Amino acid sequence: MTPQDLHGLVADGRVQARVYTDPAIFALEMERIFCRAWLYVAHDSQLREAGDFLLTRMGPREVIVVRDADGAVQVLRNACAHRGARLCAAPAGNARSFSCPYHGWRFRTDGSLAAVPHQRSYPPGFDLADPALQLRRAPRVATHRGFVFASWAADGPPLDEHLGPMREAIANLVERAPDGEIELAGGTLKQLYRGNWKTHHENANDTVHPTFVHQSSVHSAAAAPDAQDALDGNQARHMMRANNFGTAEWEGIGLHATTGGHSFMGGFYASGLLSPGGGDPVSLAYRAALEAARGKAAAAAILGMDRFNNLIWPNVSLNAQFHQLRVVHPVAVDRTEVHSACFRLKGAPEGVFERAVRFLTTLNSPASLIFSDDIEIFERCQRGLTGPGPEWVDMSRGLGLERPMQDGTVATPGASELPVRAQFAAWLAHMVRP
Ligand code: FES
Ligand SMILES: [Fe+2]
Repeated sequence: MTPQDLHGLVADGRVQARVYTDPAIFALEMERIFCRAWLYVAHDSQLREAGDFLLTRMGPREVIVVRDADGAVQVLRNACAHRGARLCAAPAGNARSFSCPYHGWRFRTDGSLAAVPHQRSYPPGFDLADPALQLRRAPRVATHRGFVFASWAADGPPLDEHLGPMREAIANLVERAPDGEIELAGGTLKQLYRGNWKTHHENANDTVHPTFVHQSSVHSAAAAPDAQDALDGNQARHMMRANNFGTAEWEGIGLHATTGGHSFMGGFYASGLLSPGGGDPVSLAYRAALEAARGKAAAAAILGMDRFNNLIWPNVSLNAQFHQLRVVHPVAVDRTEVHSACFRLKGAPEGVFERAVRFLTTLNSPASLIFSDDIEIFERCQRGLTGPGPEWVDMSRGLGLERPMQDGTVATPGASELPVRAQFAAWLAHMVRP
């Protein structure tokens, strides 16, 4: 596709339906976005010791993210440098080296080749130190406050520049820990949906959809009174009821976007355990711990940042307030995997972590009454747009209401498709670059 063809796909306030359904466009996205942009790959807490590793995906490539013997994080293609066999099959663990199951080549945790069986049968110039015989390594790996990102492009903007104002969301999540440290804990939920990856991101900061998409759980939760003996302090009920925004509330939830495709939306839990001013015993004990560590004013500022999802485009959405993370893996033009997990805040009462786990399962488990609705809609969008569907998709809600903010973002009132337009601005910028 020529740059002109690509420009023709995105117009002011609308986008061609093909961008969600055309396998050729998906292939180009993998090459020009997922094999080039900074992608979140791991959190430091998963890679504490030398040899700690995990498998993840960077678009079409499966990678091993590993702390090498010198303490540096390496991101290695999970494909043997001999004949390409998938090297490691364990999802995570600790290893001193990786041995290929095919002909036994063995690689160190920095990707270099350590040993080859029957070396004497190779020709004289065969050298274990030859860079061509090492595992392919992502040329850029960088960590921001414990969040590890990698890029397959040798040059490009540094990570800090890419994150821009989204650094504040990461900072807020880390600073919520009284000890200043967070760790991924409790496992990962994985869901696969039959839809395009971009649909997930568009939905994460869409304030208008909950009233419609989540109607059934909103109504059920509204009809079920708070129970005295609820094991979860009625947390799930409050989460579901909170999705019942009226048009006035849509307007009140601020939406922000920034170059690079990132966006975030304001919080909307006005009451219950999860509201920013929660007065239940766990919230009070937690606030006291944070005040003891940081002082009253700083603790109030940290807890006062009332935001919901923070999308760090193109592959991770953070919820600092509820200590959650969602990583999005495109699998095919109409297949996407979403991996969700939560953090434990060091120095916070255990009840805070229990609440984060409950939040995660209420929202993102396969049995969730909330995310299952979202997935149903992602799949309906895919079905509606596949084949002779509409040619153009509208994203003009709130167009013209953007105003620049001091933090470097652009904001609109909540009833806006600003995040969708921001995604496509970044998308186009990547796609037209050969
Ligand atoms: S493919 Fe790995 S050793 Fe041959
Ligand atoms: Fe939703």
